[in-house]
Amino acid sequence: MKILLVGCGRMGGAMVKGWLASLPSLVRIDVIEPQDVHLPSDPRLSFFKDGPSWSAQKREIDVVVLAVKPQMMTEVNTALAPLVSPHVPVLSIAAGITLTNLTKAWGEMRPIIRAMPNTPGAIGRGVTVYVTNTNINENHKVIINSLLVVLGTVYQAIEEPMMDAVTAVSGSGPAYLYNFVEALEEAGKSVGLPPALACALARETVTGAAALMDHEKDQSPKALREAVTSPGGTTEAGLYMLMGNQVLEDIMKMAVKAAWVRSKNLAQPQ
Ligand SMILES: NC(=O)c1ccc[n+]([C@@H]2O[C@H](COP(=O)([O-])OP(=O)(O)OC[C@H]3O[C@@H](n4cnc5c(N)ncnc54)[C@H](OP(=O)(O)O)[C@@H]3O)[C@@H](O)[C@H]2O)c1
Repeated sequence: MKILLVGCGRMGGAMVKGWLASLPSLVRIDVIEPQDVHLPSDPRLSFFKDGPSWSAQKREIDVVVLAVKPQMMTEVNTALAPLVSPHVPVLSIAAGITLTNLTKAWGEMRPIIRAMPNTPGAIGRGVTVYVTNTNINENHKVIINSLLVVLGTVYQAIEEPMMDAVTAVSGSGPAYLYNFVEALEEAGKSVGLPPALACALARETVTGAAALMDHEKDQSPKALREAVTSPGGTTEAGLYMLMGNQVLEDIMKMAVKAAWVRSKNLAQPQ
């Protein structure tokens, strides 16, 4: 497979590493990125500073992957769409950029995929949801899956509006969890732990609990929680503050709703 990747920041870089490591059909990746890119050297990688310098080489490609910030998408689409032949599918991972936005820029006939990955994809432990326009055939689906599976698990959304909710839950979710770790660390300090130990305990408790949840796949989070909550014990006392009046659940709903609204707003014409 010959890939043109536009934008090689955190997500683009993570995808390149995954494709180089585990995409058997990979022939080459052309990367358009104005910044210097720090990736291991590989004969399958070529770098270009902009669309015209890539286009001047007249290189064939099987798929375009767009991994620039949503704010850059209009500029990138306007510059690149005329340079890529109309049958080549385009996969965008930009938050809030709709299939309609992409179709307007890349043309009615073009196969288009909108995907929402998340940052654990950098170590192959992410989760990605995608949706497509109606120009996608079975061959395109194989390409999409092979590109996205290197990031972790892949799901197809039934309808596009779901993508705002996906963005708000799994796209932004890792940041919510990091904030939970920060809060647990601060709480540890507030009951007398030295800062370094509070930091280590918060971090290792969350990574350990997540690994245990992954290991015990047949156990629901509720069952795992109940297993460590003795009646009248310390965990029950702490959980009462999080679960009494559904405090944490309500805060989570507010956070997800705010991200969902922001994703919808990003989709509006600027
Ligand atoms: N990070 C996440 O958690 C996450 C999760 C899911 C989806 N996404 C989506 O993934 C996309 C990329 O996010 P990111 O976190 O990887 O952003 P990022 O680290 O800022 O990477 C974007 C890269 O694209 C480059 N770029 C800007 N204009 C360009 C152009 N005209 N042509 C080619 N490259 C250009 C940027 O260079 P400059 O620095 O010079 O602008 C930057 O290196 C976003 O649309 C985001 O919505 C991100």
